[in-house]
Amino acid sequence: DRGEYRHFMAKEIHEQPEVVGRTLAHYLDMATGQIRLPFEAKFDWAKLERLTISACGTAYYAGLVAKYWFERYARLPVDIDVASEFRYREAPMARNGLALFISQSGETADTLAGLRYAREQGQHVLAVVNVPTSSIARESDVVAPTLAGPEIGVASTKAFTCQLTVLACLAIAAGLARGALSAAEGEALASELIAVPGLLAEALKSEDRIQELARDISRVSDVLYIGRGTSFAMALEGALKLKEISYIHAEAYAAGELKHGPIALIDETMPVIVIAPRDGLFEKTVSNMQEVAARGGRIVMISDRETVGEAGVDDLRAIEMPRMAPNFAPIVYAVPVQLLAYHTAVVLGQDVDQPRNLAKSVTVE
Ligand code: M6R
Repeated sequence: DRGEYRHFMAKEIHEQPEVVGRTLAHYLDMATGQIRLPFEAKFDWAKLERLTISACGTAYYAGLVAKYWFERYARLPVDIDVASEFRYREAPMARNGLALFISQSGETADTLAGLRYAREQGQHVLAVVNVPTSSIARESDVVAPTLAGPEIGVASTKAFTCQLTVLACLAIAAGLARGALSAAEGEALASELIAVPGLLAEALKSEDRIQELARDISRVSDVLYIGRGTSFAMALEGALKLKEISYIHAEAYAAGELKHGPIALIDETMPVIVIAPRDGLFEKTVSNMQEVAARGGRIVMISDRETVGEAGVDDLRAIEMPRMAPNFAPIVYAVPVQLLAYHTAVVLGQDVDQPRNLAKSVTVE
């Protein structure tokens, strides 16, 4: 039931404060800020040599964000690949390795095949899945559920933010178990996570502004998304969302890569969506944004209001996010990229929930 919404995708975007809150409460005691994983790990985080992550599409981008988190908070080396490559790569795997698969449906053929490969290679197998009865859940040693509820729109939205929420909790748990985080550092990160559902609700207030910008985006044929660190993964996710439902060509680049080629594309017709929460890489992203502005690119900056004000670019259109601590910004910054794709597709009259050529669950390779 779509309720008051025109599309399932809109409903699912708006459900995020609730389902992320529910998922978080399943992994974290909201009163004490202690992480409490809802499963018994059959492996010891402290002894792992390597984490290998694999998934497809949006679930892969959740894994890409998590790579930064596991490396930073748990000091755990991470290898990540799309499942269609991983399954055939003949990757040698660490002796005491954990393989992590992420899937909304739990039925994606390539992800399932990657899981079987990892098992043959003697890996511990952990799956973050939204459908607990799925094949991927059944074939894993340990299941970390997302509590997003059924996701109907072909474009994944609430499953993605719930995946990020679970992955954040796993990274903190791993950091604590490996002694890479002190108890105080773990609590500080947990308190940042506890703020996320409220911040998601705030982020949704940018919808009117995004609707305005979507009218402009609907008139172009190409869009570039840039960001650094976890925001690079969010740039990839933003570009995928726009492509799949509006059919506008979009590409994402790590902001530092622009000068190695793609900056040649920039002219007055090219919108560049800059994902720039105030974090340790912000200054670097801003200097890349200034390079784009100097070449006439049309900048849409996603950041908080104070930070947008400090960006030093005159001709800039902004999508304002709430001010927040930086660590879990990707969960909140998912909202504007989802809404921008959604409203662009609506302006163009596309079939948002059932985009052409796509299926909700890709059970063939
Ligand atoms: O069910 P899964 O999470 O395994 O699906 C993976 C991808 O097929 C999926 O995320 C796809 O990329 C979505 N259409 C993205 O919005």
